[in-house]
Amino acid sequence: MQNTIEVEHVSKTYTSTKRKLRHKSFSEDKIEKNVCINITRKGLLNIKRKETKALNDVSLVVKQGNILGLLGPNGAGKTTLAKIVSTLVLPDSGTVRVNGYDVEKETTMARFSLGLVTGGERSLYWKLTPLQNLRFFGSLYGLSRSESEARANEYLKIFGLMEKKDELVQGLSTGQKMKVAFIRSLMHDPQLLILDEYNRGLDPNASRQLREYIKKVLQKEEKKTILVMTHSMNVAEDLCDNIILIDKGDIIAEGTSEMLIQSINKDRIIEVDSKHPFNQNLVSKLGNYGKTILENGDINRLKLHINKDTQTTFDILQILNQSNHDINNINIKNPDLEDVFIEYTGHGLGSD
Ligand SMILES: Nc1ncnc2c1ncn2[C@@H]1O[C@H](COP(=O)(O)OP(=O)(O)O)[C@@H](O)[C@H]1O
Ligand SMILES: [Mg+2]
Repeated sequence: MQNTIEVEHVSKTYTSTKRKLRHKSFSEDKIEKNVCINITRKGLLNIKRKETKALNDVSLVVKQGNILGLLGPNGAGKTTLAKIVSTLVLPDSGTVRVNGYDVEKETTMARFSLGLVTGGERSLYWKLTPLQNLRFFGSLYGLSRSESEARANEYLKIFGLMEKKDELVQGLSTGQKMKVAFIRSLMHDPQLLILDEYNRGLDPNASRQLREYIKKVLQKEEKKTILVMTHSMNVAEDLCDNIILIDKGDIIAEGTSEMLIQSINKDRIIEVDSKHPFNQNLVSKLGNYGKTILENGDINRLKLHINKDTQTTFDILQILNQSNHDINNINIKNPDLEDVFIEYTGHGLGSD
């Protein structure tokens, strides 16, 4: 269908090779380069094949004018899907249609229909200026020099980059490079956008401005269809109409932020922070009241997902009080998307 992104039963497994010296007595760093080559020639290297299932039967549809967010931690498969949808990587199985075009059979048409923004900084030539980059990428999409120049200047103004337009990209901050990469994806005015960790390196203010621009101009005025890949629950919550939770290549749940939060049927989260690990006895006692999740970092955090009744909360506080455990902080809050993710997978989204 026009102006939609349709992903049906897509799976992808990467095969990578790991090289290891077969003889333990040889330490790789002690062997001089030429010796190492000889050893390789004699076949003394063990080459192990490793398979990683990046996507497992993933299906989704982004309807015209909608913003769909794919929310998951590192390694969930988000970038792999972004690459498949933007025709850069082939799936092992399944089909993807972009603006009605099959990404495998009608690659060029699919490619012209969409713009891809990636959080990596490889989408620009660092030895060129932002304006030169944008003119170049505009020309790849068939824009004339004057069209490219006009569009580039228009966006550079909107994104507050006019002062930087003639400096080399390598001298720009990460956030400024990100903005130029964002503009690059808009040069050919695609109806579909794939935004993969698009706000990496942006400060909170720039991030908010860009979010408002995406919603107000790209979605509301220009009616673009947008697929967002993110590990940030704030991006998912504030930007996306619908959210898909993804973990280790599997879709876990789907819905609006409110629907996902309601789906776990827990309406209160108690977070307890301690400098010391929690003792098992205390954890299992608290476990009688709801799901407990332990996080160990600089602080040890125990999260308890419970129902919102006052007596349960009092009981838990009493158990904590009687435990003589060295507690730093107790926080009682409503669940958010991170808590939903934890409830489904047993682990969080990683740091924000
Ligand atoms: N080119 C590759 N070769 C081998 N494994 C890969 C490759 N790209 C990604 N992977 C693996 O596939 C999984 C999903 O990666 P990715 O799609 O980048 O996830 P995300 O963007 O959600 O962090 C990870 O386990 C990652 O290590
Ligand atoms: Mg990624």
